[in-house]
Amino acid sequence: PWQRNRALAIVESYRGQRGTLLPILHDLQHEFGFINDEAVPVLAQALNLSRAEVHGVISFYHDFKRQPQGRTVVKLCRAEACQSVGANRLVAHAERRLGVTMGGTSADGSVTLEGVFCLGNCALGPAVMVDDQLHGRVDTVRFDSIAGDIR
Ligand code: FES
Repeated sequence: PWQRNRALAIVESYRGQRGTLLPILHDLQHEFGFINDEAVPVLAQALNLSRAEVHGVISFYHDFKRQPQGRTVVKLCRAEACQSVGANRLVAHAERRLGVTMGGTSADGSVTLEGVFCLGNCALGPAVMVDDQLHGRVDTVRFDSIAGDIR
């Protein structure tokens, strides 16, 4: 969970240095698994930036999350090569099977479902990444077997 004091200590540890927004954001993401909205005004003030600038940087980088992520993160490729072999169908199936809409996290915190644009596995689509493990040619049956392992 987000800890305000710990977050402030991270920001403070960079005091007096320049160009520290990205390193601080990485530290916050690493420490808490996401960047709480309350960090935005704190960072803006500490680094003499506008809130919009801080917000813009957080939104620009896909690695920075605004919400806590599920224990398992399932990424479905939505790029062209995978789309041509049924990725959209798979997305609809995955949402139903996991009870989560794209970009969302299940209420019990077990899983986050994310759309990504190419997993570098285009010849073997539809491609799915579960945490750090890549799966190719994922049809609905294979997806259900992958989903069955999620706790
Ligand atoms: Fe899906 Fe590249 S298009 S892995």
